[in-house]
Amino acid sequence: MKIIITKDYEELSRKAFEVMIDVVRNNPNAVLGLATGSTPIGLYDLMVEDHVKNGTSYAGVRTVNLDEYAGLSPQNDQSYRYFMKKHLLDRIDVLPENTYIENGLAKDEAAECARYNDVLSRLPRDIQLLGIGANGHIAFNEPNTPFETQTHVVALTENTIKMNSRFFKDENEVPRRAFTMGPKNIMDAKKILLLATGANKAEAVRGMVEGDITPALPASILQRHADCILIADAPAASLLKK
Ligand code: GLP
Repeated sequence: MKIIITKDYEELSRKAFEVMIDVVRNNPNAVLGLATGSTPIGLYDLMVEDHVKNGTSYAGVRTVNLDEYAGLSPQNDQSYRYFMKKHLLDRIDVLPENTYIENGLAKDEAAECARYNDVLSRLPRDIQLLGIGANGHIAFNEPNTPFETQTHVVALTENTIKMNSRFFKDENEVPRRAFTMGPKNIMDAKKILLLATGANKAEAVRGMVEGDITPALPASILQRHADCILIADAPAASLLKK
């Protein structure tokens, strides 16, 4: 794993932008695996700024997202589809039909997971962006998800529900279940870029980089990826051996 430690969130976002824009400029038809959460917002803002100022085009780019809450419609302002449109997709020239995310309203969940696995195998990702949960989850793969798992529906842990409740009016409004790519799908991307910020991620980052490779800490599987970059700000990297 290549590790870049930055002094703050601004520098982290700039470094992440350099990695991402390199992929887009090298391949106008790139497939970008995208992520939600507060961590990638700075990166998305820089992509938009660059699109506006420098004209970098996404007209041939395809995007696939990691996960989506079960039971929320794309119009719900807490859905991940809504988040992606607001922070990135509606602000660049990517074609809406080239942006993929699980359908949170799918009635037949098994069929939806199979459909999404099919999308992922048709669109091999040039890069997959990731955040990390304080318990080491990636996408919504909670601790003890088998590494071979593909797209599936998960029951979110109390910890994740609590963390994500800051985006909702009330903790009771946080959906209890979500569709998510599995660790196997994530590992299939050619390149992985994981961003971690803040001291509450430090323990998970330490485990991911220096701990055993174990489903108990889902992000630890990334040690096995041939081209994985971790960009962490100083607080998130604070428990790493110097
Ligand atoms: C959610 C998302 C994850 C994300 C995590 C961390 O659980 N499903 O993909 O990495 O939150 O979010 P944040 O970046 O806000 O800390």
